Amino acid sequence: MKIILLGPPGAGKGTQAKSISSKYDIPHISTGDIFRKNITEKTPLGVEAKRYMDNGQLVPDSLTIDLVKDRLSHEDCKGGFLLDGFPRTVNQAEALKNFLRNNGENIDCALLIDVPRDFILDRMTGRRVCPACGASYHIKFNPPTNEGKCDLCGQDVIQRKDDNEATVNERLEVYENQTQPLIEYYEKENLLKVVQGTKAINEVFESICSILGSIK
Ligand code: AP5
Ligand code: MG
Ligand code: ZN
Repeated sequence: MKIILLGPPGAGKGTQAKSISSKYDIPHISTGDIFRKNITEKTPLGVEAKRYMDNGQLVPDSLTIDLVKDRLSHEDCKGGFLLDGFPRTVNQAEALKNFLRNNGENIDCALLIDVPRDFILDRMTGRRVCPACGASYHIKFNPPTNEGKCDLCGQDVIQRKDDNEATVNERLEVYENQTQPLIEYYEKENLLKVVQGTKAINEVFESICSILGSIK
């Protein structure tokens, strides 16, 4: 199964991706997580990406597209993959389509997790993430079992630098201007499915499973 997860910042893409990836046994590829890992390791890509991410802007396509193509060429993507946070521009979507087409492949589903704007700020400011494995928590809606520690790997959870009110508002603007057009793009490609992301995390996951179950 080759799946794209679409949705605004805080929709629950990362949260649902962990469960989908484990149920369908496909790698979870989050461009945001890859950039954050590079920032932590202070690689040249990380230094460049940080300039954009700290301000809530998109990292340029010239850095992002090749990174994803390279990742999709790894052996573990042969049986499918789950893209979280890519594509984010029509240009990225076209590049992905061409890359897959050259290998005789296509996306099976672009799944939009739909969450209205007024839910987002609470979700983002209460979010805590694991810097080691990328797991997402929320101090109210989904706290880790042991306070401050990742359930999956035991690391101390942290707050993301871009999860402050000003940057979240900027990210929402960027989403509306640059990423939202992908909804229409995938509708035209007949690949769009929509799930309401406002219910509890496990209920959203159930809806996702029933959508994905009906695809193949
Ligand atoms: P990225 O890391 O992709 O951030 P994002 O798209 O803004 O999305 P988030 O990770 O913030 O939200 P999410 O949907 O994963 O929500 P989560 O599950 O954590 O990108 C960061 C930056 O990297 C970008 O701004 C850009 O600079 C750069 N970048 C990345 N990809 C790029 C690309 N392709 N091109 C260019 N630049 C790129 O959930 C959020 C919170 O809500 C958590 O606390 C969670 O516990 C809670 N929650 C989740 N679901 C529920 C629920 N159902 N009910 C209650 N709470 C919930
Ligand atoms: Mg995420
Ligand atoms: Zn972890």
